[in-house]
Order: sequence, then C-alpha cells, then structure tokens
Amino acid sequence: MLNTVKKPEIKIPPPGPKAKAMIERDHAVTSPSYIKEYPLVVERGEGVWIYDVDGNSYLDFMAGIAVASTGHSHPKVVKAIQDAAAKFLHICGTDFYYESMVTLCEKLSKSVAPYMGQSKVFLTNSGTEAVDGAIKLARHHTRRSKIISFKGAFHGRTLAAITLNSSKVTQKAHFGPLLPEVYHLPYSYPFRCAYKNEKTWCESNCVCANKIEQDWFPSHFAPEEVAAIFVEPIQGEGGYIMPALKFLKDLRAICDKHGIMLVFDEVQSGIGRTGDMFAAETLGVAPDILLTAKGIASGMPIGAIVAKTSVMTWGRGTHGSTYGGNPVCCAAANATIEIIEGQLPTIKKTGLYFKEQLKILQKKHPVIADIRGVGLMIGVEFTLKDGTPAQDYVGKLEQLAFRKGLLLLSCGKSTIRFAPPLVITEGEVKVGLEILDQCLTELGTP
Ligand SMILES: Cc1ncc(COP(=O)(O)O)c(C=O)c1O
Repeated sequence: MLNTVKKPEIKIPPPGPKAKAMIERDHAVTSPSYIKEYPLVVERGEGVWIYDVDGNSYLDFMAGIAVASTGHSHPKVVKAIQDAAAKFLHICGTDFYYESMVTLCEKLSKSVAPYMGQSKVFLTNSGTEAVDGAIKLARHHTRRSKIISFKGAFHGRTLAAITLNSSKVTQKAHFGPLLPEVYHLPYSYPFRCAYKNEKTWCESNCVCANKIEQDWFPSHFAPEEVAAIFVEPIQGEGGYIMPALKFLKDLRAICDKHGIMLVFDEVQSGIGRTGDMFAAETLGVAPDILLTAKGIASGMPIGAIVAKTSVMTWGRGTHGSTYGGNPVCCAAANATIEIIEGQLPTIKKTGLYFKEQLKILQKKHPVIADIRGVGLMIGVEFTLKDGTPAQDYVGKLEQLAFRKGLLLLSCGKSTIRFAPPLVITEGEVKVGLEILDQCLTELGTP
C-alpha cells in the first residue's frame, strides 16, 4: 500500500524556462526584502502536491510555512470560499453582524473552553496583527506596560511584533526605535540549554522560568509592572523547539502569582499542528490569551485573538479592523476547522510514524543531532561533529531536496522544520523521507 504512493516528478531541472521568465519579471518589480528560499514558481496545488509552471511536481513538507493545513485547495474549503464570495465580499465585522463570523468565534471559543473557560474572540487579518492586538489588550487590561518575550522568538513583522522577536537581527536592524520595555529572556531549549553550565538543565528540572523570579524580578523590573509574558508554546522560526513542560507550567505559576497575562502565540503551533486543536491542550498549560492565524483558513488571510472573557475587557471602539474577520475568510476558516477536527487522531499517528522514520535515518546519518516536536510540527537539528550548528549544510540540503522534488524549509540556525499539510499520509511521509535519505547520502558527512 505504502509503495503505490505517487512520487515527485522533475521533468525539467528547476528553474525551467517558464519559471526563469517569471522570476525575472518578479525581481524587476517586487520588494528586495522578500526571501524566496528557492526558485519555485507555482502553477497550482492539490493536497500535499505542488505543480510548477514547467510541469514539475513536488511533495510539500512545509505547507507554505505551516499554513496549508487541509492541503492545497481542499475542495470543501474552495467551495466554502466560492459560496461566501457569491453572497457578499465585505461589510466590516467591526461594525456589522454576519453568521460566518459568529460561527467562527463560537468554534474557537468552544475549542479552548476545556482549559481557558469562557472566552471571547477578536478577528484579525494575520498573525502579526493578532500579536499587536494582544499587546494592546494585555496592556489595556492590566494597566501595566512591560512585556517579557524570549530569545529565539518570532511573532511577526509589524513594528510592535518585531520588538518581541529575537530570532534574526535582520528583522529588527535599522527599524528602530522599537517598543520600549520589552525584555528577552532565555527560552527552554533542552538541546542547547542557556544554563547548561549550571548542570541544572533537563526536561524535568528546567530553570528558565524560575530565573525570572530569582534574577529578573529582584534586579531588573518589578513583576507588578509586567503586563504579559508572550511565548510560543513550541518555538517556530527559532528552530521548532519543544521546551521542557516544566517551563510552561512555571510561567503559568509566575503569571498567576503576579497577575501577569500569559499569552500563547499559537500562530504556527495551532489548528491541529500538534494533533490537538492547540498546543495548549497538548502541553496541558492554559494561557490567558491565545493567538492563532496561519493554518486557520488553509491560506486565506485571517487570525484571531482568543482571550478569557475576564481578560477581554477593552471597551467599545478601543480596537477594530476594516477587514479582520472578512466573511470569505471566515467561511474558509469554518470549513478548515471542520476538516481538521476530523483529522486530529490521524495527525498524532502520522506524526509518531514521521518521528520513528526520522530516528531510523538518524542512525545512518549522524549529522542529524536532534529530533523533536509533536504531531506534524517536527524539527530536526543538524550539527557538525563538534556540535556546532551545520548552517551551510542545511542550506545545501534545502536546495538539493527541492531539485529532487521535496519542499523543505529551515528555521533556527540549522534546523529543518517538517510542517506538511495535516492531511499527509504515512505513505507520502515515506516517499519524502526516502528523498531526504538520498540527499543526506549525497551531501555526506559535513
Ligand atoms: C509564532 C508566530 N507568530 C506570528 C507570526 C506572524 O504571522 P503573520 O506572518 O501571519 O503575520 C508567525 C509567522 O511565521 C509565527 O510563526
């Protein structure tokens, strides 16, 4: 059964002539700030497959940065979009009412209810806008100003969100002055623990959160001035880092003790990626405010701030958005959530299979230093023999895999993130990992 799965087909080495022509046009008119990891010019997508303009097909292990949750152009999502678009494209959810918006807010609220209790929802256009809104909400609710964020964090590209970032300096350099009163503390990173010298690092004894109480509050800033701790429950752009569970639990305890808002940025980890609707459920720690976007609408631009009702206290007119919660995006999100809810048990099972297969590869290729993650949010960190990050190697691996028809994306210093569409099958995982194996064999030991 696994052997009958289709394989990527590279008929013309990319970029082919049509791709080259499009890239030339693109470079002439688009902002030089775009990254564009490799020369892929997409014609269409279907499920876990991407087809380029020259007729090549690729197996997608990155889902447009963890966005195409239901696969590319899932027929139910496409139909929901078409039906909604035919009814009305816009009316403005800040000022008027419509069913798809109410339904989406109900769905989100219901899915976090077991651990967050009663909640309310504000809809945005993107993840970064959800982050900006949550900074405002936390400050408005607590009447405090300071924010704690973490090293390696990524929260988006708006001015407030980049202040919270600390994964790549290019995202921040020369854009200042940024938001004042934001502090970056070490994130629990068991594979490269910031406190390793103290020999206290490990899954069950993580000290990262305790250091906030012991070192930061007494000497740097008072807890009663802190509005919020913003944290990715599984760090995304920083390297698909699975923190020690104790870290998140300790953060929860600190927030409870001092009346600080715990904000989970689940823009990357949410909507089924971990095998539950949100990582908060998988990891058993409840935030006060939860942010989602990316996978929520299979690629349509929408995000959400979900906050405990007792926290979403800002009054009429304090926050709004012209497009946030657009009816076509809401329809796509409602269809997406329905599909993902049915997919959750399979995601966990496929994720376990994925990690098992990676562990088999690790025995053959010692350059694979760490395999981590849960569900279909899996990170593989590559290192040189001396343990330093194999940064160039990962760059070469991405390019080689692309040329063999496998779409990969790196994160952190030398990690490949595996974030395929959540509808991927074990057979498709096997096909992709066979290509990865070939690439690692070709590249040899760095
Ligand atoms: C954790 C996290 N927060 C926020 C964002 C920003 O989302 P967007 O690009 O939709 O603004 C991202 C994007 O990668 C993310 O991974």
